[in-house]
Amino acid sequence: MKPIDWRNTDGIVFFTGAGMSAESGVPTYRGRGGVWNRYNWEAYACQEAFDRDPEKVIDFHERRREAVLNCEPHEGHRHLARMEEIHPGVMIVTQNIDGMHQRAGSRAVIELHGSLWRLRCAVHGVREDHNARFSHKRCPDCGSWLRPDIVWFGDALDPRVMESAARAVSRCDLFVSIGTSGVVWPAAGFHRLAMEGGATMVEINPERTEASELNDITLREPASRGLADLFPLET
Ligand code: OAD
Repeated sequence: MKPIDWRNTDGIVFFTGAGMSAESGVPTYRGRGGVWNRYNWEAYACQEAFDRDPEKVIDFHERRREAVLNCEPHEGHRHLARMEEIHPGVMIVTQNIDGMHQRAGSRAVIELHGSLWRLRCAVHGVREDHNARFSHKRCPDCGSWLRPDIVWFGDALDPRVMESAARAVSRCDLFVSIGTSGVVWPAAGFHRLAMEGGATMVEINPERTEASELNDITLREPASRGLADLFPLET
């Protein structure tokens, strides 16, 4: 596959999903070993579950935090951070909540589905919390349970986050989808939004996905190898 002349491309959006973190050892959601094959999301990842049994949901998320803290960003994460340093038009729109892009040094990151590393009180807002165990399970101001600041099943995406992501995607010249099955909406609509905006469409994923038919360039490779092959850092 011929490398892309990315230094001379204006806006580049990397749209990442769980497969981006797979090489770090963070499990994906679907497919073999996927989180939603092992756990019923209705018991762990929706507001109703939290209202029913907050401690059970908090415990699930603490275990996920612990698992992520035991993983390190891989070469592909670092590759993207390096590209951002070289090219101001590089931006990441991620569905991942694991914070791996930021740990690798990326700064221009939009987290569509929230973050495992933030907690939220309905009244007193969002607090960052980076430990495996929640520093506070209840809001220090009002005593109500703090919920992970994650977009769970049935939740709406934050409209401001959605708007800035949609703006970047609709204006980009190159849209690179990495490691997402493209089945979860509204994020899955970004492929078409980018295509309609005239972007060149790239997919890096070992498997075919829902969005594969929109691609101009397809690499059936793991994220780290695909990034190194398509976006060389050396001039
Ligand atoms: P999925 O688990 O649905 O899809 C993971 C994708 O990664 C699949 O297409 C795999 O083929 C691909 N993949 C696996 N290993 C890879 C590798 N080494 N390199 C590149 N690709 C690889 O994950 P998402 O599409 O991210 O929501 O799932 C979307 C949303 O569903 C998630 O954000 C999550 C979940 O419910 C929330 O947490 C709110």
